[in-house]
Amino acid sequence: MSLSVDAIERALDPDGVWCCEVHDEITSTSDLAKAAGMAGRESRLVITADSQTAGRGQRSNRWVTPRGLDLMFSVLLRPAVTMVLWPRITTLAALAVCRGIEDKLALRVGIKWPNDIYCEGKKLSGLLAETTVREQGSFIVLGIGINVNTTEFPAELVESATSLKLQTNAIMPLPREPILAAVLNQLSRAIVQWDDGFDEILLEVRDRSILLGKNVRALLDGKTVFGRVRDIDHDGHLVLEHLDGSTQILSSAAEVRPMP
Ligand code: BTN
Repeated sequence: MSLSVDAIERALDPDGVWCCEVHDEITSTSDLAKAAGMAGRESRLVITADSQTAGRGQRSNRWVTPRGLDLMFSVLLRPAVTMVLWPRITTLAALAVCRGIEDKLALRVGIKWPNDIYCEGKKLSGLLAETTVREQGSFIVLGIGINVNTTEFPAELVESATSLKLQTNAIMPLPREPILAAVLNQLSRAIVQWDDGFDEILLEVRDRSILLGKNVRALLDGKTVFGRVRDIDHDGHLVLEHLDGSTQILSSAAEVRPMP
């Protein structure tokens, strides 16, 4: 079944002020949201689609999802906080995705720093935040993909990907609109804490982190480094401790994998 704007809006908190657009097939919801940002559209526009022909993922990967099964949406934001704090959006949004999923389903989900949401060791959801800086008004496009009803993944993802339907052992497809609305409701709640209250956000993010305290291998600028994850700091960076006790701060550009 196609996504319904009415069903999304009915499930949104009345004070959430989101403006939702549903498309059948487009290149990428993030491309459309970026074009909307360039055209001066207001903050809190949500663009979602049943199918993307050029979905984009982290590190120039493609994001491929079968038509009509999952959630793919992008949110245009024009944050009022100083731009120095804009990189916090990934942390805020990752938490909102976790909370939104748990509001609707009996699951416990965690964050694989910085952009992935995991359940029982497999990836459920990915986030991609892109900032456009321009004199006429800078903005963020936050793209979110959530595997909702996919049950069959391509061979290269079978071991590492999962979906909400698989994790809940649901027999019938899960309705997507209430999950999307729950994430947006939680995003509204989290972005209030962008500045004041971010400590509270970090506490929960640390608690949900699947990397904290783990030995990891990090790939950055073509170099591999090993260490133990000590913390996630106030900029949303990962604090890695090397064997010799020295620490290194990793930005979200690093690809971090837990060691077996
Ligand atoms: C990742 O690689 O894990 C991030 C994936 C982000 C995918 C979403 S789907 C909706 C939005 N539109 C895109 O083209 N990408 C993001």
